[in-house]
Amino acid sequence: MSKKMWHGRFEKGNDPLMEKFNRSLGVDSVMAEEDIKGSIAWSKAIEKAGILKKNEGDKLRKALNELLRKSKELKFLDSDEDIHMAIERLLTEKLGIIGKKIHTGRSRNDQVALDTRMYMKKLCGQVQDSLLSLLKTVLAVAEKEKEVIMPAFTHLQAAQPVSMGHYFMSWFYMIERDISRFADCAKRFDIMPLASGALAGSGYKIDRELLRRELGFAAVSDNSMDAVADRDYLIEFLSAASIASMHLSRFAEDMIIFCSPGYRYFELSDAYSTGSSIMPNKKNPDSMELIRGKTGRIFGALTTLLTVTKGLPLTYNKDLQEDKAPVFDAAETLKSLAQIFDGVLATMKVNRDKIAASLPSDMLATDLADILVENGLPFRDAHEVVGRIVLDCNKSGRELTSLTASELSAYSKAMPKNVKLTFKGALLRRNLYGGTGPDSVAAQIKKGKKLIAEWAK
Ligand code: ARG
Repeated sequence: MSKKMWHGRFEKGNDPLMEKFNRSLGVDSVMAEEDIKGSIAWSKAIEKAGILKKNEGDKLRKALNELLRKSKELKFLDSDEDIHMAIERLLTEKLGIIGKKIHTGRSRNDQVALDTRMYMKKLCGQVQDSLLSLLKTVLAVAEKEKEVIMPAFTHLQAAQPVSMGHYFMSWFYMIERDISRFADCAKRFDIMPLASGALAGSGYKIDRELLRRELGFAAVSDNSMDAVADRDYLIEFLSAASIASMHLSRFAEDMIIFCSPGYRYFELSDAYSTGSSIMPNKKNPDSMELIRGKTGRIFGALTTLLTVTKGLPLTYNKDLQEDKAPVFDAAETLKSLAQIFDGVLATMKVNRDKIAASLPSDMLATDLADILVENGLPFRDAHEVVGRIVLDCNKSGRELTSLTASELSAYSKAMPKNVKLTFKGALLRRNLYGGTGPDSVAAQIKKGKKLIAEWAK
């Protein structure tokens, strides 16, 4: 049994199973860089507080910088409990007694809060970048396909015609809000918790402003108990991740439907589809199905963290060690969802002719009712008249657009002689701000480009 850094108070070692159960290195070793950077800043703070002599501080920083350069290939031991102890061990192996001074006035409780906040700042930025890249692609597809008219659905029943640009811009705005949610929660990561100590604050005169500056945070934490105990910033990240992945999953579901035999609006590239091991005919939209499926992991992570924290007495409890695995996994998963979706959209084929040929003309029923309204009928009566026309068409198997002016005028005195129902006309009626008319879609795309440019700053 190896000696623990906390062995002094113990007479016996841990049971091997307990040792393994307690170890978090498998998860938290990804924060090696953050842990080392935290120690470099800490060495400056405790030097300033008079705990280290100048030459000791210099030696510590030299050794820490060497570790930082090799942070991707550090050799850990089975006996290292977590990344904080592993780095301290490596430092002490290099420097002997000076290495043993680094943990003065510090606790792993404030250390882990610091590392996690620093690591999540980085991950959150990566998530935002991958969503931004997807956002650009969504906008590019919207712009390229804006002339295409497609059915839009309610209850999965073709409802009204829309521009495909309008359709893709609807996803654009959802994803854009997702990015803004991450930007907002990143503000809550940006609080520097170090020198909170175990819970009551460090016992030394630590210059926390120096730490904040060194570590690039926006502010220092106001309360040491809050700083070591709470994980709300991670829960907030997971809430934002859950909403973003819900959007992507829903978008994926649309794509799956639109690639299916009943629709065939889109065809995914071979690069993002897979075949069946038995049915040679199959080309399946697995990329989209996995996006839908992996969303469950992200929701699961949110539930995990809410559950882990809901009954914890203040302040730190080891339960909190269970925070990182689900959060890191959720962040990496969301990044991959965005990257794959980006690739799918950039490479898929839009079957414009197939879409144009399959537009159901009864999607123009609302427009016909609007025409009757314009000719003096109250909307409720117009709705009823057109309902009867659609019913008769269904019975006779005729398309709404095939009825002649005289056939139509038999239904109502308000029916004008020159009714001309077209899909394009339906779109043109909806040029109001936010509608599917061509001017509105162009305005959305223009604004979308501006938003992208702002996020890219
Ligand atoms: N590995 C621990 C975690 O992730 C670090 C903090 C340990 N603190 C303690 N008092 N045991 O939460």
